[in-house]
Amino acid sequence: MSGKLNNQVALVTGANSGIGAGIALGFAQEGATVVINYPFEGAAPSATDLMNQITSAGGKAIIYQCDVSKEDQVIKMFQDIVAQLGTIDILVNNAGIQKDAPFHEMTLAQWQQVIDVNLTGQFLCAREAVKEFLRRGVDATRSAAAGKIIHISSVHEIIPWSGHANYASSKGAIRMLMQTLAQEYGRQKIRVNSICPGAIQTPINKSAWDTPQAYNNLMTLIPYNRIGQPKDIAGLAVFLASDDSDYITGASIFIDGGMTTFESFSTGG
Ligand code: BGC
Repeated sequence: MSGKLNNQVALVTGANSGIGAGIALGFAQEGATVVINYPFEGAAPSATDLMNQITSAGGKAIIYQCDVSKEDQVIKMFQDIVAQLGTIDILVNNAGIQKDAPFHEMTLAQWQQVIDVNLTGQFLCAREAVKEFLRRGVDATRSAAAGKIIHISSVHEIIPWSGHANYASSKGAIRMLMQTLAQEYGRQKIRVNSICPGAIQTPINKSAWDTPQAYNNLMTLIPYNRIGQPKDIAGLAVFLASDDSDYITGASIFIDGGMTTFESFSTGG
C-alpha cells in the first residue's frame, strides 16, 4: 500500500462480486474512498461484506444500490455520491452480465438485457462521470487528470464468440465508446481506457473452471496455463487509475495470459 489513490473517490459498478470486488479492494488499499455499487437488493449482503472487509482493514468504503441500465437511478447515484463525498475522481465501468444462447435462438430479451447493462450502463455512468469531471476540472491535490474512466471490456472485444453474440457485440462497442471518449475529452484532461480480461475465475464463467475437465479445456486457450484472478485485474486497474499512467488514454489493455495470441495456432495454420 503506497497511497497512489489517496484523496480520491472511486465508483466501481458491480463491485459486490468478481472482478469489481477485486478492484474495489485494490483501490481501497491504495487510499481511495470506494463506492461499492451493487445492482439489486439480493446483492446487498455481499456488498456489505466487502465494505466491512475494507473498513476493518482501515480503508474507506460505502455501498450503493443502483441498476446501471436505468437512467434515473444512475443520475441519482452520481448526485448522491457528489453530495456525500464531494466529487468523484475515478469511474470503473465494471457491471456486466452474460445471457448466452445460440444466435438463432436468442430472444430479444436476452439481447436487450446484455446490451442494456454492458453497454448502455457504461454509457450512462460515463456520461454522468464526465459531467462531474468537467465541472471540477483538474485539482492537482488529487490527480494530474480531471478524471479517469476505466471500462471493463473483454478479450471478446476482438475475439468473436459463438453462442454469445449479445455479449461480444456489447464488448466490441465498448472499444469505440472508450476511444471516442478519450478523443473527445483528452483536452479536458479526462483519461479513458479499457481493461480487457480473459478468463478470470469469477461467478460469471463458473462452468469454464469448476470441473477438472472444464479447466483443462480452458487451458488449451491460455498459453500462460492458469486462470486469472480478480487481483490480477486489480493491479492493472490501480495503475490505470493512478498518475503512474498519466500519459495513457484511449488504450485497450489485454490481461489474459496470452489468450489473444490465439493459442490454437501454435500447432496449426
Ligand atoms: C467472459 C468469460 C470468459 C472470458 C474468456 C469474459 O469476458 O465474461 O465468461 O471466460 O471472457 O472467454
